[in-house]
Amino acid sequence: MTVLNGEATERPPIWFMRQAGRYLPEYRALRAEKGGFLDLVYDVEAAIEVTLQPLKRFGFDAAILFSDILVVPYAMGQDLWFEEGEGPRLAPKLLDTLLESLTAAPERLEPVFRTVAGVKAALAPDKALLGFAGSPWTVATYMIAGQGSREQAEARRLSYREPERVAALLDAIAETTIGYLRAQIDAGADAVQLFDSWSGSLSPRQFEQMVIAPNAKIVAALKQSHPDTPVIGFPKGAGGKLPAYARETGVDAVGVDETVDPEWAHASLPSGMPVQGNLDPLSLVTGGPQLHDAVDRILKAFSGRPHIFNLGHGIVPDTPIAHVEAVLAQVRGR
Ligand code: CP3
Repeated sequence: MTVLNGEATERPPIWFMRQAGRYLPEYRALRAEKGGFLDLVYDVEAAIEVTLQPLKRFGFDAAILFSDILVVPYAMGQDLWFEEGEGPRLAPKLLDTLLESLTAAPERLEPVFRTVAGVKAALAPDKALLGFAGSPWTVATYMIAGQGSREQAEARRLSYREPERVAALLDAIAETTIGYLRAQIDAGADAVQLFDSWSGSLSPRQFEQMVIAPNAKIVAALKQSHPDTPVIGFPKGAGGKLPAYARETGVDAVGVDETVDPEWAHASLPSGMPVQGNLDPLSLVTGGPQLHDAVDRILKAFSGRPHIFNLGHGIVPDTPIAHVEAVLAQVRGR
């Protein structure tokens, strides 16, 4: 929390996106027992346990709520399930169904708030609890196509063909997301992160309209109700558009993916703004001297500003546990 409040620390705090997940044997065991990923998310006691697993094993500095960005479309009335080995599915897809025909089911978000409260109650006071949501554009790409899609082509085509329809969808997602994040903060989240995983596929004009504007709207609403809760924005793939995102959305901190040169990021982002990132998850899988060098380079590049050490994207299932331990030791100077 010190870093998110804008103070540089000698050693950066560290957590990893997707730190609770299939690379952990204790996660795989609980998942097998409960059935599947969504069964874990909706079993509050299990979700609390999974959220805490990586802290128990590694002592990360923050816990991130165990849930998924797609519970928001689920609460907006789409069906949600995960196809084993493939990924998420949402139905009916909005490419051929109107948003107005869905029946909202806000009670589908309730278990998440109970998970947040349960984690908060179990967490040591020196650990931060992060809540999160997907950003409207990223969530919309799944709602429109009904699943993950190459280059988000369906959603991008629809946004050129029927811009008003997509704008209305982004507004509706932003509204639900504002209430969702406020309730996470009320339940005990110390900070929240907005994941815009597919911001990288947009043209500059669309980036302004569909990434910067909706994220700015969410941040402004949160600042009104919860002025002291930091918001981390993670516009994955934004590249050269990162500085504009950092300046114009009002986020307190910015997440940087692994394709961004950390020295460029340090030079280009507003001075003093906390930065989170940006080790390549595949460098972590491989390990060895290249991993050591990559960690070192990130630590040096961001040593002059508030920095949260993280990956540039989620940890992948074949990550060796020993490599996670090695990075923690290196970042902590041990
Ligand atoms: O960071 C965390 O640990 C918090 C929990 C979290 C999950 N998903 C758990 C999860 C967060 C923040 C997310 C975000 C998310 N979910 C995003 C944005 C960030 C990103 O990764 O780009 C997106 C696009 C999704 C949608 C989603 N969820 C996909 C495409 C998949 C399937 C891919 C995969 O890895 O299997 C998921 C499943 C998912 N969400 C898993 C986890 C731990 C894997 C679950 C499992 O199979 O056990």
